[in-house]
Amino acid sequence: MSEGLTKSAARNIFYGGTAFFVILFAALAVHSHLYIVNTSTDQATLTEAVVRGKHVWERHSCINCHSLLGEGAYFAPELGNVWVRYGGRDHPVGARMGLKAWMQAQPTGAAGRRQMPQFNLTDQELDDLVDFFEWTSRIDTQGWPPNTSG
Ligand code: HEC
Repeated sequence: MSEGLTKSAARNIFYGGTAFFVILFAALAVHSHLYIVNTSTDQATLTEAVVRGKHVWERHSCINCHSLLGEGAYFAPELGNVWVRYGGRDHPVGARMGLKAWMQAQPTGAAGRRQMPQFNLTDQELDDLVDFFEWTSRIDTQGWPPNTSG
């Protein structure tokens, strides 16, 4: 009479299952990588200025207060779409001026409002940051966040 699962059958299921899921995981990792590189990332416009802007962003730990595409702290607004929020798609010159002026005008000291420190960034650093924001806003996030204020 059959005793259900034999030891060797259990072992085969274990090894077979492990191999199956390792291969599946590797295939999904490769798929994600190719998707990021070829579809969701706009490599053609990844300029030196965008790279410098990201370094300014990292040097000053903006992520300690802000989120970028949902990653980061939730003390201050999401900045992955700040370019869109400032109307950059229709009025790029005005959005650039607005964003730079805004960063230069901090902190506002407005009572009851969360404050952003003054980083004393150079004009070049501000321009690079704006280039970084503009580039980031073009990443295909599949509709996230659902509204521009997010
Ligand atoms: C100590 C926390 C803090 C840090 C660090 C910080 N910010 Fe902010 N930031 C804020 C707060 C708070 C606001 C919103 C202030 C308000 O609305 O009055 C803000 C708003 C902004 C805005 C305008 C967002 C909008 O939707 O109007 C931009 C752009 C911005 N920050 C860029 C930066 C950059 C670039 C850095 C790094 C160089 C940075 N922030 C670092 C707190 C911070």
